[in-house]
Amino acid sequence: MQITAVEGLGAEITGVDIKSLSDADFAAIQDAFAEHGVIFFRDQDTIETDHIAFAERFGEINVNRFFAAHPDYPQIALVAKEPDQKDNIGGGWHTDHSYDHEPALGSVLVARELPESGGDTMFASMYKAYESLPEDLKDKIEGLSAIHSGKHIFGEGPDSYYKTSDAGEHDEGTGRIGNADVAATLVDPEHPIVITHPLSGKKALYVNPAFTREVVGMDKAESDELLSDLYTHVFTGHDFHHRFKWEPGSIAMWDNRSTWHWALNDYQGQRRIMHRITIEGCPIGA
Ligand code: SIN
Repeated sequence: MQITAVEGLGAEITGVDIKSLSDADFAAIQDAFAEHGVIFFRDQDTIETDHIAFAERFGEINVNRFFAAHPDYPQIALVAKEPDQKDNIGGGWHTDHSYDHEPALGSVLVARELPESGGDTMFASMYKAYESLPEDLKDKIEGLSAIHSGKHIFGEGPDSYYKTSDAGEHDEGTGRIGNADVAATLVDPEHPIVITHPLSGKKALYVNPAFTREVVGMDKAESDELLSDLYTHVFTGHDFHHRFKWEPGSIAMWDNRSTWHWALNDYQGQRRIMHRITIEGCPIGA
């Protein structure tokens, strides 16, 4: 097995079959995941039960409350876009599950049907984002925390951007994402803006444009300005971005505590079907 760091962030793992990993190989994969934030595999010949078995080696599966599920395997969330749908799922920088009190460890995404071109996924390192912040911004966020929520995304309302096309129109009746009843029961958590990663012990920036709502102890204008400064730093930090091009048999597994991702929506009129399994996380702290 070989683990090779790729440009920006992440590592490609070659010479393995995820269906038959020895304990030693699996331990090395876990270490690579903690260190690099996202790991990539190519040419994996898997069916749904292989995907589930691989994910379960990392921990308990989170059965998604908001995504449509695979008809036979509720553990698998469908990240799907049909040719007649304009919007995609995850079409903006975000990290999954920051709206939970114990954010998910990560997600394993398997390509099942790809467009002829387009549909790459962007990743950004929140370790490197934190390390490269200007010192004055690092000082400013020291000890601060922020409120995160999924209500505006998964419930109903004008900000429910997952359901809205680029043209601002809803893709009616897609049923792909959202559940207003469950969204209404979410209790919004407060997380430190800089966390100490539970696996690597490294510091990571932990805010994101989809789910972070406000900085605790600031008025709205001050909070919006600070979050905007942090987001601009990540948006423009091209040296800690990686653009992953999917091929049949590709798998990406990202850490939700140390990375952001963004599914590019540049394949209108084509189908893209991905299977995602998310793994439960643990408490996070400063
Ligand atoms: C997601 O945000 O989970 C989807 C990523 C992708 O489809 O590339």
